[in-house]
Amino acid sequence: MKAFVHERGVLKVKDVEEPSASQGQVVVSIRAAGLNRRDLYIPNRRGHAPKALILGSDGAGVVQSIGEGVQGFSIGDEVIINPALRWFENSEAPPAGFDILGMPDHGTFAEKVVVSAEQLEKKPKHLSWNEAAVVALSGLTSYRALFTKGDVKKGDTVFIPGAGSGVSSFLIPFAKNIGAKVIVTSRSEEKRKLALDLGADIAMATYSDWTVELADEKVDLVIESVGRATFNRSLDVLKKGGRIVVFGATTEDTVDFDLRKFFYGQYQLFGSTMGSREELRSMLAHMEMYKMVPVVDCTFELDQAQNAFDYLEKGQQFGKIALHVSG
Ligand SMILES: NC(=O)c1ccc[n+]([C@@H]2O[C@H](COP(=O)([O-])OP(=O)(O)OC[C@H]3O[C@@H](n4cnc5c(N)ncnc54)[C@H](OP(=O)(O)O)[C@@H]3O)[C@@H](O)[C@H]2O)c1
Repeated sequence: MKAFVHERGVLKVKDVEEPSASQGQVVVSIRAAGLNRRDLYIPNRRGHAPKALILGSDGAGVVQSIGEGVQGFSIGDEVIINPALRWFENSEAPPAGFDILGMPDHGTFAEKVVVSAEQLEKKPKHLSWNEAAVVALSGLTSYRALFTKGDVKKGDTVFIPGAGSGVSSFLIPFAKNIGAKVIVTSRSEEKRKLALDLGADIAMATYSDWTVELADEKVDLVIESVGRATFNRSLDVLKKGGRIVVFGATTEDTVDFDLRKFFYGQYQLFGSTMGSREELRSMLAHMEMYKMVPVVDCTFELDQAQNAFDYLEKGQQFGKIALHVSG
């Protein structure tokens, strides 16, 4: 079968052996897959590892074969794949054994993938294949950061730097759906307009002076993933006693901040990553209830996966990027 792999430092489309389902596993024939920033980081992390690894965490498709002992799924079922491996019940942090699909296990950028049946959810009926394929990783990360860790409530003001990000394209509608006010930033004027179309109340340029633009309005909750480029300025617009949730660091992991200002402000800082299956199911129920459709910026064919990587690397997207695989 055809797959997009990382092998000996090189990304390429390659013919690889088809997977088969062992006990408790299911082979899914992938219709579409979704890109995440994580996919860009993996080649660096693997260096020149000789074994070909199929990349990709997100995907949706049709159950093609089933191993012994699998219950609840039949051949032909339409499913999405939960990439948060072995994290089922809600917990403060992922359990031992947690991993993300796409490294070290083979991922979704292929005609077929084998996963444990416990990692499958029924495909939301109101979504197309490309839409369903991009939901799980970003939607889940967004849902946990905003609701579980951020404890967002109706009437809160939520601040999201980097509106163009795949995860932000879920944060904005989730927060709006429950009656929060949403303020975003983006480097691009076009993306600021798209964020307003998606429901954001205010969209500012990322490198403008936010305290001036907001005329000293402060926010209850910051959801940060841009990292060093915005972290301290995000703290500047947070109310005293407010909450800041961090789940990413696109522009560098290391940040200096003023501890005295932090403790006098009685700010609350939370780390978050992906989420449990329980949270994924709550997120899917939320999307179903609001008939929420993810923002798919564009779709590439599996053969063109390198172009999709280049597009994501340049940060041109608003929302998610899909790979069409079959059907
Ligand atoms: N912990 C987890 O479980 C988890 C899960 C998903 C993602 N993440 C992390 O969260 C981050 C966002 O993920 P994603 O997939 O949504 O990423 P993405 O789609 O690539 O978006 C990143 C966004 O960051 C902003 N940005 C990039 N470079 C910037 C710069 N130099 N200055 C200011 N803003 C900049 C851009 O927003 P504008 O174009 O609007 O300016 C860009 O769209 C990544 O770091 C990712 O690794 C973590």
